[in-house]
Amino acid sequence: MRNNLQQVTMKPDADPAQIADMIRAQGIALFPGYFSAETVEKLNEEFDRFLNEAEARHDTALIKNDGGVVLPVVRNKMDIEHFPVTFEVFGQKMMSEVAMDYLGTPDIALNHQIYVNYFHGVAKPIQKLPFLAHFDKISTFKFFVYLTDTTEENGAMGIDPGSNIENCQIREKALAREGHTTLIPNVKENIQLTPVEGPAGTLFIFDTDASHGVGFVQEGHQRRIMRGHTRTIANLKLHGLQHQAI
Ligand SMILES: [Fe+2]
Repeated sequence: MRNNLQQVTMKPDADPAQIADMIRAQGIALFPGYFSAETVEKLNEEFDRFLNEAEARHDTALIKNDGGVVLPVVRNKMDIEHFPVTFEVFGQKMMSEVAMDYLGTPDIALNHQIYVNYFHGVAKPIQKLPFLAHFDKISTFKFFVYLTDTTEENGAMGIDPGSNIENCQIREKALAREGHTTLIPNVKENIQLTPVEGPAGTLFIFDTDASHGVGFVQEGHQRRIMRGHTRTIANLKLHGLQHQAI
């Protein structure tokens, strides 16, 4: 499996402060095969249950878009007995410690939303956001889990390690100048993203200030991922997003 992200690859028992430092420097920390086969199997079962039940009840939160479906789940509203492994995986101590260190406060909403995301293959790359290289207008700290072996062919996320530092400055300056970030040009043209590849159970943690792009899933392939979105309470309030956490 190709992967030239050795510099950001960490041991599963790395110290939370070291993990946070890696993300400050590179925008990402990668843990190939972090979760056991048993956990991945259960996450896959819950993944199907999330999407099938949302479809059956015509859940308006279920977003159908180019090449797939996305269900944003508010972790505090989840049926914990129905989705115990998802709740445990995205509420674990390691994630909490890394997020608090990175965000510099205990006042955070850990994985307040969990995105359950299925993509099937399409004939040609989709030339629009979030597939284009970009940084997010609202900074988010994300915990990304691959539920199947994921390569460039089946939609590994792409990233430009280290670009978080410059992009953060652009975003922060716009926020200070205009009080919001809705107008900043956040598409990054002519940069080469590196696919974040990994076997089923791979975890990576990244700051959306790093330039990234949703991977293009080639025909005949599929992508199954879950990702948790973490923000400080202050950032949620600043952008009027408290409803995503309560
Ligand atoms: Fe994004």
